[in-house]
Amino acid sequence: MPDQESTRRTVVIGNWKMHKTGAEGVALAAGIVAGLRPGRAEVAVAPPFTALAPVAAAIRGSSVALAAQDVFHEREGAFTGAVSAPMLAATGCSIVLVGHSERRHVFGDGDEDVRRKALSVLGAGMRPVVCVGETLEQRDAGRAEDVVREQLEAAVRGLSDARLAPLLVAYEPVWAIGTGRTATPDTAETMHRVIRSSLAALAGPAAAERMPILYGGSVKGDNAGAILSGANVDGLLVGGASLRADSFLDICHAAG
Ligand code: 13P
Repeated sequence: MPDQESTRRTVVIGNWKMHKTGAEGVALAAGIVAGLRPGRAEVAVAPPFTALAPVAAAIRGSSVALAAQDVFHEREGAFTGAVSAPMLAATGCSIVLVGHSERRHVFGDGDEDVRRKALSVLGAGMRPVVCVGETLEQRDAGRAEDVVREQLEAAVRGLSDARLAPLLVAYEPVWAIGTGRTATPDTAETMHRVIRSSLAALAGPAAAERMPILYGGSVKGDNAGAILSGANVDGLLVGGASLRADSFLDICHAAG
């Protein structure tokens, strides 16, 4: 959680991945809206594309924001199956994940895709969450810090400090996603510090100081508080535990 004078707000995003129909998403969103106590955490949900519009209606007027899980970088055209940033913005999204580990490892998104996607999200007036994280193999080879630095640099290369201002970063170690194996609070804080110093080199220290860096990977209600205790851990990107209102609310409330 941000320390001292920091102006960073805690951000908690529920990434529903490929779960929930429109009707199921509306029920889940309604449960979250009904149970969310006012606090300092900014809360968002990221349903699959088909549930975005009904969930947007279900959260209207609440403090819960709408996020998308992915985007294609072109504005429009002959790109069968793709959804653009302006389409997401028009549906009510204010946040879009880019470069999630499952996009990188299952769908083959590369660093250049992630950069273009982040750019298109910024261009449509939304906030990209650039996801970075090393595999277990890379960690065991002592390359974890280099990998996240390289992913981050590739994603924001060529963007001015001002354009980078709305950016969020999520550190999601691939070995912690859906495995029940969470990074220790110390590991998370160490990696978040690496990310913040990379951001300082890329966007300047003031901008880096303002950017929220979220942790993701097997976050639950009973480990959220400990993970958030790191001075550079500003929020959480939650997968499995965001699929039920009660477990997601536990995490949101642990975040303040
Ligand atoms: P789990 O919380 O299910 O490990 O998923 C993490 C994640 O990938 C969130 O984007």
